[in-house]
Amino acid sequence: MKVVSIVGARPQFIKASPLSRELRLRHHEILVHTGQHYDHEMSDVFFEELDMPAPDYRLGIGSGPHGAQTGAMLPAIETVLQKEAPDAVIVYGDTNSTLAGALAAAKLHLPVAHVEAGLRSFNRRMPEEINRVLTDHLSTWLLAPSEVSRQQLAQEGILQGVHVVGDIMVDALQLHGTRAAARLEALARRYQLQGGMYYLATVHRAENTDEAGNLHRIVGALGALDRPVILPLHPRTEKRVAELGIAIGANVRVLAPQGYLDMLALLRGAACVLTDSGGIQKEAYYLRVPCVTLRNETEWVETVSAGWNTLAGTDPERILATVARCPAPNTPHPDLYGDGMTARRIVEILSAFPTRS
Ligand code: UD1
Repeated sequence: MKVVSIVGARPQFIKASPLSRELRLRHHEILVHTGQHYDHEMSDVFFEELDMPAPDYRLGIGSGPHGAQTGAMLPAIETVLQKEAPDAVIVYGDTNSTLAGALAAAKLHLPVAHVEAGLRSFNRRMPEEINRVLTDHLSTWLLAPSEVSRQQLAQEGILQGVHVVGDIMVDALQLHGTRAAARLEALARRYQLQGGMYYLATVHRAENTDEAGNLHRIVGALGALDRPVILPLHPRTEKRVAELGIAIGANVRVLAPQGYLDMLALLRGAACVLTDSGGIQKEAYYLRVPCVTLRNETEWVETVSAGWNTLAGTDPERILATVARCPAPNTPHPDLYGDGMTARRIVEILSAFPTRS
């Protein structure tokens, strides 16, 4: 099979890493990078660290308002798909690159495989929610991480092509986790951290960065925590903090965006993570680190039911109280999202599809 995989934003490089490896054992993969993320530490560092093949196409779209960014991706992706005429197109997650890839492919009658299908926050103000819903309804293969996501698709009338394959990020963690763990000691020395005695935090969601009050409250809560906080900052958050003149607490250490391996290492050593990222909620679960989610809803509801993740929103008192109540490490830890064989399952599913050649 000839398969075009479309990536563009940080979490997609991580998700593509295990699938790309597995896919290339049997099929011809062409990797397209939309350029949604372009800073070295938001993009190239992942290709270097995760030993990923260089993209065959770099579309160089860059940042912009949602319509302009997604719109600019469409003709650029369409041109690649017309030239390559693949048997299938793979898209990941819920970013603007995901939607543009799925839409360009579907308009050319190319079958789309959506990795991370069936997730919902039920909040249509999130750009990602729009991207998820539309991508699912355009896809031929709906590669769902869990039974809950399969049921969600069924509720929307999507019954064909749905496969529960587990979470591809478990595969990524299994592939790279040992190398990541080996970095913790050096990082602890560099930032003078004691394992289990610091918090890790990330904030990048539009609802938390664009809304000045939310960002003020979150940064204030981090500054009021009882331990050092490591805060790798997404460029848009960094800009907003500067623009709004938000004071950062003396216990908060701001870092540049971290690569995958250092981020996993920092997470492994943390007492608790405070985040509005989807991927980190799951990584925290896999590493048995309690998570405080700085949102009012999550797509990864199983981590909340299991007791390892708590939705704290942006109210400082609620955030502090949630951190204080973080679960003890002996909380039961069921296997929520599969066994790390997701990439293999996806390749099996795609391989069963009749190609046109
Ligand atoms: C995107 C995804 C989000 C995902 C996140 C991972 C959408 C709608 N959102 O959000 O789901 O969780 O990626 O990080 O697709 N910027 C830089 N350098 C870069 C990239 C971005 O400075 O390399 C700045 C720019 O000011 C840009 C802003 O960050 O305008 C937002 O970037 P964008 O790609 O639009 O969305 P993310 O917030 O990264």
